[in-house]
Amino acid sequence: MSEVILEEAPNIQEQFQVSSPALMVIFGASGDLANRKLLPAIYKLFQQRLLPHNFVILGYARSPLTDDEFRSRARSSVIAHADGDLQSSAWDVFATRLFYISGDYDDDEGFKRLRCRMKSLDKQWDIGGNRLFYLSTPPSVYEPIVACLGAAGLVEPTGGRSWTRIVIEKPFGSDLESAHKLNDHVLSVFEEDQVYRIDHYLGKETVQNVLVLRFANGIFEPIWNRNYVDNVQITVAESIGVEGRGGYYEKAGALRDMMQNHLMQLVSLTAMEPPIAFDAKAVRDQKVNLLQAIRPLQPEEVPKYVVRAQYEAGTAATQPIPAYLDENGVASDSTTETYVAWRLEIDNWRWQGVPFYLRTGKALPRKASEISVTFRSVPHLLFESTEGFDGAARQSADMAAPLNRDILSRNVLTMRIQPDEGITLKTLAKRPGPSVNLTPVNLEFTYGHSFGDPPDAYQRLLLDVVLGDSTLFTRRDEVELAWQRITQVLEGWYMQEEQVVSRDDPFLLPKYPAGTWGPEEAGNLLAREGQNWHAV
Ligand code: BG6
Repeated sequence: MSEVILEEAPNIQEQFQVSSPALMVIFGASGDLANRKLLPAIYKLFQQRLLPHNFVILGYARSPLTDDEFRSRARSSVIAHADGDLQSSAWDVFATRLFYISGDYDDDEGFKRLRCRMKSLDKQWDIGGNRLFYLSTPPSVYEPIVACLGAAGLVEPTGGRSWTRIVIEKPFGSDLESAHKLNDHVLSVFEEDQVYRIDHYLGKETVQNVLVLRFANGIFEPIWNRNYVDNVQITVAESIGVEGRGGYYEKAGALRDMMQNHLMQLVSLTAMEPPIAFDAKAVRDQKVNLLQAIRPLQPEEVPKYVVRAQYEAGTAATQPIPAYLDENGVASDSTTETYVAWRLEIDNWRWQGVPFYLRTGKALPRKASEISVTFRSVPHLLFESTEGFDGAARQSADMAAPLNRDILSRNVLTMRIQPDEGITLKTLAKRPGPSVNLTPVNLEFTYGHSFGDPPDAYQRLLLDVVLGDSTLFTRRDEVELAWQRITQVLEGWYMQEEQVVSRDDPFLLPKYPAGTWGPEEAGNLLAREGQNWHAV
């Protein structure tokens, strides 16, 4: 087989293990996710020599394509989405590892052809039987694909000389019942340790760093609890609207699309107890314990703690955005939420009484994901409030909120997940001068400055799958617990809508103009407790 000089990346190879050979079958290989994320990420891993020369990709989708057509599409994807990083020598070698076969997702004949092709590729490339199936299709075909894989005899049980693994994209179900059913189905063919439920937030360096910050630094753990923490805020804001994904989004909404997975993961990592080791079982056990401790909501309590809203036309991050109701694929009377804010509580010794405020939405003023831990203020502030204190401090707080000396003097630790990845600790300092003027200053760490740009989340996650490390993937009990809490909110919403409909009165969803920070109701959720959302 031809060899090639790939990108010199000695440090990367020292840090990471190179995986074993494998045949990766991508279902939905001609689709958006495969093109935007998977193929560019696999190419980058290959280019960095983190995948062996006999790591082979077989695309499977309905569209009839030849191997060469698939290669040429993959090339365009890599050019468009791998930061322009297409080394032609590396690409030429990589392209010879790309193959394609078309077929339906529920057709045993198609899967027989798939089996034959896999067998011949395995032999040709001396792969030794390792198989990785990646479901990058609409969720409606997850079950038929899994059934056909089982029927075609393509799933080897764990413990043999080779391995079989499956990666399942989100959404994994649409409520507790469907997630449970999908788990039952998948686990009738695969074993749990062969299943990698992906949440790409866990592949982000900044998300993994939450655990490192908490558990590799001695100063945080002693104060990471109800005695010192006043509240925790998690914001995952996007400036884009649904952008042509109206058909999918109508059935999802912000609660299912973002809260069930990404925000629940961020809550778990921020609030979980220290695991006894950094391995899949220990970390996931603690995340599960935390999810179990999230206070369940009765349907009638939901409107008090959870705010939902939908965007109207406006301009976000300089882009004009049509009203959600005018997006393609959206019903003109849709009540699908594009924004959710949730005040939740965690019933355990560490967090009793500490509110966790979560919010996520589309068409907000900018893209920004961050976790802010606000510490209690000092028991007695010696220093008089001065012009310097109020004026400067206000810049880092919500401009709309009333000035509150106690709130402004709190220390806030902010973990910026993206963009401008980094960590800031807001402290108060004396402004130089003859009087004691307090002013907030930030102790700052930025990823870009220390380490350069973080790699794409999919690179890390794909490498972990081929290495067989499931620490950053979601276990069955974890995904079902997250759905259980989300389903309670959905039940509250159904009840709210039914009550209103039965009064012959249409349900009115709060609205917010695109380019603003959400509806007034979300501000009130905090204001009634004397809090305000941090400016992000
Ligand atoms: C996906 C959601 O899981 O995450 C999208 O389906 C959302 O609606 C995306 O835009 C956001 O991911 P990121 O990495 O850009 O924050």
